[in-house]
Amino acid sequence: MARKRTTVSAEIIQNREIAPLHFLMTLRLPPTFHPPYPGQFVMIRAENRQPPLLGRPFSVYDFYHDKKALALELLYRVVGQGTRIFSLLPQGEKLEILGPLGRGFKIDGRRRKLILIAGGMGVAPLSFLASYVRRRGAGSSFEIVSYVGARTASYLAGLDKLETMCSKTFISTDDGSLGYHGKVIELFEDHLKTCHGDMPAVYTCGPYPMIRQLADILRGCSGFCQVSMEERMACGIGACLGCAIPIRNKDNRQLYKRVCKDGPVFDIRDLAWR
Ligand SMILES: Cc1cc2nc3c(=O)[nH]c(=O)nc-3n(C[C@H](O)[C@H](O)[C@H](O)COP(=O)(O)OP(=O)(O)OC[C@H]3O[C@@H](n4cnc5c(N)ncnc54)[C@H](O)[C@@H]3O)c2cc1C
Ligand code: FES
Repeated sequence: MARKRTTVSAEIIQNREIAPLHFLMTLRLPPTFHPPYPGQFVMIRAENRQPPLLGRPFSVYDFYHDKKALALELLYRVVGQGTRIFSLLPQGEKLEILGPLGRGFKIDGRRRKLILIAGGMGVAPLSFLASYVRRRGAGSSFEIVSYVGARTASYLAGLDKLETMCSKTFISTDDGSLGYHGKVIELFEDHLKTCHGDMPAVYTCGPYPMIRQLADILRGCSGFCQVSMEERMACGIGACLGCAIPIRNKDNRQLYKRVCKDGPVFDIRDLAWR
């Protein structure tokens, strides 16, 4: 689902390191900003032509009304120049926000069990999906189970919040520092064996190898799995084609779709692997 986008000036309310190199930023937005759907994202850049000049895409981690203003939360990891600059910004600083962008997750009300599979920062859009479902009228009638994987325990930022919204959370780390020692998809594969044809709705976001592994194990399953893809982006609005990925259409022909405009959420079965 998509919503009308606007560019607004937003004030930083807090920007704190919640785990090594992982930050939670809360921004106050003007009322003209349209409420995002889970899975949608925003492009962020500094005001007044300060670097980074190109916006950087971030999933909405949360969105709510706070003291008569709108609040947007982002959860991000410092990986390069742009995120390093954002991590140094103090409270009161202004940022330019373009959004909400892209097409978010579809919620099928008939499937009352949701499985969320997050790798690394993939926890951000899935956590917003869980809070969105929980805040809606029928939210308590959904069962939400999450699988969260990261390289090491200190990279499991955002876990506390997600756990409060899920009936069960399974954790894995590549180095075995917390939870299952191995890949998060291996954990989920065990779950799949117990489904006996009753496939829940699966939502996922994470690095390419994780998504590919999941696509492989879901091949042949009748279920429903939506994936939020993370590609490098320049414009964020469908104009530069820089974020195009190969997709298979209904006739099994390969074509390119823009992650920023046609996604970032796709059906996992439509992805064509490079
Ligand atoms: C729709 C969408 C939602 C996203 N949501 C989040 C989020 O909620 N939290 C978060 O921490 N990050 C998120 N990302 C990734 C985030 O946009 C990048 O980490 C960020 O743009 C890096 O900027 P930089 O200037 O710090 O790094 P750069 O200097 O541009 O790059 C540093 C390193 O990060 C890699 N990188 C850069 N952009 C991406 C990208 N888009 N995907 C994967 N690798 C990338 C580069 O290949 C390079 O290795 C999202 C990306 C997309 C497309
Ligand atoms: S980032 Fe420009 S088309 Fe997607």
